[in-house]
Amino acid sequence: MRQKVTVVGAGNVGATAAQRLAEKSLCDVALVDIIEGVPQGKALDLSEAAPIEKHDSHLAGANSYEISQGSDIVIITAGIPRKPGMSRDDLISTNAGIMKAVTREVVRWSPDAILIIVSNPLDAMCHVALEASGFPKNRVMGMAGVLDSARFRAFIAMELNVSVENTHAFVLGGHGDTMVPLPRYSTVAGIPITELMPAERIEALVKRTANGGAEIVGLLKTGSAFYAPASAAVEMAEAILKDRKKILPCAAYLEGEYGIHDLFIGVPVKLGAGGIESIIEIKLTDEEAAALSRSAEAVAELKQMLKTLG
Ligand code: NAI
Ligand code: 2OP
Repeated sequence: MRQKVTVVGAGNVGATAAQRLAEKSLCDVALVDIIEGVPQGKALDLSEAAPIEKHDSHLAGANSYEISQGSDIVIITAGIPRKPGMSRDDLISTNAGIMKAVTREVVRWSPDAILIIVSNPLDAMCHVALEASGFPKNRVMGMAGVLDSARFRAFIAMELNVSVENTHAFVLGGHGDTMVPLPRYSTVAGIPITELMPAERIEALVKRTANGGAEIVGLLKTGSAFYAPASAAVEMAEAILKDRKKILPCAAYLEGEYGIHDLFIGVPVKLGAGGIESIIEIKLTDEEAAALSRSAEAVAELKQMLKTLG
């Protein structure tokens, strides 16, 4: 029997993630959204593409959660995206309410699922999902580091005119302006980029990565990025569905790792059938550790804001 992934939110990120999951033949897909007709229509449209795309994944859409029953993974993209001039943090009160309600429904129908949170502000939304689900910390994670690292990798490949496949990058920290791209751990065919380009070019790519979401919002004007975010969420889902034990940067709940307590933040984790199977602690320089700690402070402020929202 095929595994099952539910995607909540059939908007730009959600529908694209559903498409990628099906077209990679990874699983059956249930699509849930509050807008009547949209998840049904998109699921049917994707099903009608299946003969051409040559996959047998079953896709179904609904406005209620019954179709999500027994999901192995639930990817939550429900919420509002940012518009030009808005930060991810501006979304907090609307999306926290949505996340709480969605998570409760998800848990009712799929008590054993692994949750991949996408809605922004990402790290804060992970806290809402952890609390609302009552799931253990290994089954609740956020997608941000895979996206931010992919952006860094794309910029490195463009800069050096090399295949993206040769690139590897790590971005830690919260999914916001304080994220921490790590040039020392970013390589091309195993060679650290610090040996391949001058410091000022690396600095420019680091800045572009941290500003990557805003750059796309500025171009699209009516919403935020979705192709790369959907790819990133699906890479995480694939690692779990196939029990790949893949090391990927994800928002994980830390209880002392990296000296950070009681906070979701982006760190390298091992993803397999058990969800987050371990957190990898890499050595950081004093400067990198200070940047991570600043990022953690920014996430802690958002978490505090959640408390005032109730
Ligand atoms: P979108 O507006 O295209 O889609 C969001 C969908 O959520 C809409 O179809 C809407 O009807 C649905 N929705 C709203 N309330 C709902 C509810 N209570 N139950 C079910 N569905 C509901 O937005 P897009 O571009 O897909 O982005 C979705 C979220 O993901 C945003 O919060 C955005 O900021 C975030 N995002 C996060 C990224 C990350 O790196 N973590 C990257 C890209 C987007
Ligand atoms: C991004 O980084 C909006 O968080 C989203 O594109």
